[in-house]
Amino acid sequence: MNSPVKIAVLVSGGGTNLQALIDSEKRGELKSGKISLVISNKEGAYALERAKNADIPTATVLKKELGSQEAFEAKIKELLTENGIELIILAGFMSIFSEDFTSAYPERILNVHPSLIPSFCGKGFYGLHVHEAALAYGVKVTGATVHFVNEIPDGGKILLQKAVAIQDGDTPEILQKRVMEEAEWHLLPSAAEMVSAEILRKR
Ligand code: GAR
Repeated sequence: MNSPVKIAVLVSGGGTNLQALIDSEKRGELKSGKISLVISNKEGAYALERAKNADIPTATVLKKELGSQEAFEAKIKELLTENGIELIILAGFMSIFSEDFTSAYPERILNVHPSLIPSFCGKGFYGLHVHEAALAYGVKVTGATVHFVNEIPDGGKILLQKAVAIQDGDTPEILQKRVMEEAEWHLLPSAAEMVSAEILRKR
């Protein structure tokens, strides 16, 4: 049988989406891919603890230490190559890659975004800000999107979306949690399996 697709998960924060991927692999639902490396661009991100608890190798790559976006991306590419990574998943990764980077991995980078793209997305829309913007606009439905990453921030081909209702009294924090629980933590593992299975078919 084909060995599973080696996946790298890129993180910056709490890593609940990483945890959803780890749990999905443990349950045998994510079976065509194997989380083989977790890279953080933030020192001490809790996501790194989650990776260590699951015996997944980790690396921290800091732009401020490397001095430039080019050097930051070169270091990440080096780690991906060294580890034979075939699929990159951005799971709460709060940094935007250059076209030089994204074009090196066409349809091999996935991202989860906490809104229904094309609403509340693009530069400046990340994390809690997305939910603040949705509440400020007054939409009644929001959700999450998993898409391929290309040179346009949040502009790549959409793979999966799920709607989540906004409720009276929602704060950005309450809404963020509901969007994660009802949408992100299901969509991201499903998309990871879908794309990994497709890569295996093409091997
Ligand atoms: C998630 O809601 C994710 O969709 C969002 O940041 C959060 C990370 O949480 N990502 C973006 O906004 C990217 N534009 P996590 O670290 O617990 O997975």
